[in-house]
Amino acid sequence: MAVKKIFLGEEFMPTQWYNLNADFPSPMPPLRDPVTQKLITPDFFKPWSPMSLVAQDVTPERWIDIPEEVLGIYKIWRPTPLYRADGLERLLGYAGKIYFKHEGVSPPGSHKPNTAVAQAYFTQKDGIRRVTTETGAGQWGSALAFATQQFGLELKVYMVRVSYDQKPYRRMMMECWGADCVPSPTEETAAGREILAKDPNSPGSLGIAISEALEVAMNDRDTRYLLGSVTNHVLLHQTVIGLEAKKQFEALGDDPKVVIGCAGGGSNFAGAAFPFVADKIAGQDIRIIAAEPTSCPTMTRGVYHYDFGDTARTAPLLPMHTLGHDFVPAPIHAGGLRYHGMAPMVSHGINLGLIEAQAFDQIETFEAGLTFARAEGFLSAPETNHAVAAVIAAVKRSQEEGRKPTIFFNWSGHGLVDLAAYDAYMSGKLTRYALPQEEIERALRALEELPKVA
Ligand SMILES: Cc1ncc(COP(=O)(O)O)c(C=O)c1O
Repeated sequence: MAVKKIFLGEEFMPTQWYNLNADFPSPMPPLRDPVTQKLITPDFFKPWSPMSLVAQDVTPERWIDIPEEVLGIYKIWRPTPLYRADGLERLLGYAGKIYFKHEGVSPPGSHKPNTAVAQAYFTQKDGIRRVTTETGAGQWGSALAFATQQFGLELKVYMVRVSYDQKPYRRMMMECWGADCVPSPTEETAAGREILAKDPNSPGSLGIAISEALEVAMNDRDTRYLLGSVTNHVLLHQTVIGLEAKKQFEALGDDPKVVIGCAGGGSNFAGAAFPFVADKIAGQDIRIIAAEPTSCPTMTRGVYHYDFGDTARTAPLLPMHTLGHDFVPAPIHAGGLRYHGMAPMVSHGINLGLIEAQAFDQIETFEAGLTFARAEGFLSAPETNHAVAAVIAAVKRSQEEGRKPTIFFNWSGHGLVDLAAYDAYMSGKLTRYALPQEEIERALRALEELPKVA
């Protein structure tokens, strides 16, 4: 009988994270000051970021040791299983193999704690007691609540209003782990008040929630701001996914030729894909595909440009694929894919031609999610369904071309607290949504004053 699930013992867990910045054929463009637009030094981050994490953002080292304390907590759910999706292969009539890495086995149910645990560890090591953050779908907020609780830190979470209303169970989960979670925009911060003055019913956005969490951290010496995606250190921590997968493929004697992940800020995609991007840089023939929603098409319809990481323009200017910092995406169910930009490292990879991007409508993604659930049993998070839709598209393309490459994708999280979204889809309440070109052009006008990426 064919192998269905590869579990490796703890001795197979990676003990180092992989930094793709050491191997990019040309260096990633630097970050810039949001006011002066000049290049910044790590000191810029001092008021709101733990400096151990800032050091990881700029390190030229290829391999970074994972501290024992972090590995100890990883062992609660790592190594995660690599599954052969033979049920999906049969259903699609695919002659090739499909594998997925199951990141939904962590306590909060997604890949997010791979970095949350590392960030909480370095934060307490830097002598900090309180933390703020933003969350979209609630996956990151719940992961950080789990992690900060492990290290005895206090946590306040600004949750994007639309998801706060759609996903009460994620808030409850955060509260179970001792965090305080409020819907953003709030009246508590200047950034929140400014948005509410313009639109009292604002559904919120990740850009707004980041501004609120940042503002609170900047005004309190004992508080720092942690974020769940986009920055180099987050992507670095997530590489445990791809590194572990490589060892599992080695044990299997197989080798993926197509690697797929969904991308909101880019962290789970990068975590699964970057160790394979290294192989591609070294000359191997691998297609690496990031999947995003058509309603927030940062990579497929945005521009590669410097832009603010947040709506209030506090965070540095990032060189990234962006739709503009005041872009507010439609309130789709994949709350974690609603960020206006893409991680600078992923954007650089796209710009260098190492990574491709594809966009999927939410109807198509839920269809893919049900196909997967019926073939493999697992119910994916709405974000993860974008990766599943990309896998199905890759299978169709390979079948048309008469090829059967081994496909590997990252199953970033389960959808067991997202069943309302499945219900909305199955009862016909979801509609197709094509983002009007005028809206993209309007939002991109906000970039006119900002520097271009050289
Ligand atoms: C399950 C899941 N997958 C993917 C994402 C997208 O984030 P990222 O692109 O940082 O992996 C999220 C974000 O909340 C998520 O919860």
